[in-house]
Amino acid sequence: MNKSFGASDPKLTEYAERVFEPEDAILKEVRSRSAREGLPEIQVGPMDALHLEVLTRALNAKKAVEIGTLGGYSGIAITRGMGPQGKLFTFDIESKHTDVARRSFELAGLSRQVEFFTGAATELLPSINNQGPFDLVFIDADKNNYPAYLAWAAENLRVGGVVLGDNTFGWGMITDERFESAEDEVAIRGLQTFNHICARGGRFRSTILPTGEGLTLAVKTR
Ligand code: DHB
Ligand code: MG
Repeated sequence: MNKSFGASDPKLTEYAERVFEPEDAILKEVRSRSAREGLPEIQVGPMDALHLEVLTRALNAKKAVEIGTLGGYSGIAITRGMGPQGKLFTFDIESKHTDVARRSFELAGLSRQVEFFTGAATELLPSINNQGPFDLVFIDADKNNYPAYLAWAAENLRVGGVVLGDNTFGWGMITDERFESAEDEVAIRGLQTFNHICARGGRFRSTILPTGEGLTLAVKTR
């Protein structure tokens, strides 16, 4: 999947990737290896990974949680952003994903900074409550559970900590009220609820960054 950058014009993606060089040799290898290993090609785009790294740096985050490890591409970006003192807790339902990601973190020289959890994040997240409060929670897994992940983040982030939610434009369906499949409906309803709680739930000050996919950015205020 070739993810665009910003509004639409491919010229802007080409420009941004040429000037900001978001994908180094390691990330390129992680992306291609993940595809060779048969993982779905749905990891964040190169510019979105750069956003993650730079936002993580700007936050001075040292403890981050990622829900949706996939092949490790976005987790490497976040871990790089935290620097050598950072620690990433990353969750995925598929052991195949965790296996590929382990190797990705080895390639990136970041293995000692990551802890992998395999299984349903809704069940596993409470096992790290005692390691919080956290600085950053990146949500990029099953869309129907985004509200549950947000509720966990609201309790386990520090005040000033940040939630980032990927795909929050819902592939163009976020404004829809009728859906072609039950699967779309449950996913998009999840994203709609997530965005609504970020915007209006009273615990976050939030915006939605107009990346190709939509990236909701919510700061915990209380
Ligand atoms: C899908 C999920 C993602 O997180 C993404 O970035 C793109 C696609 C999907 O489930 O199809
Ligand atoms: Mg995503």
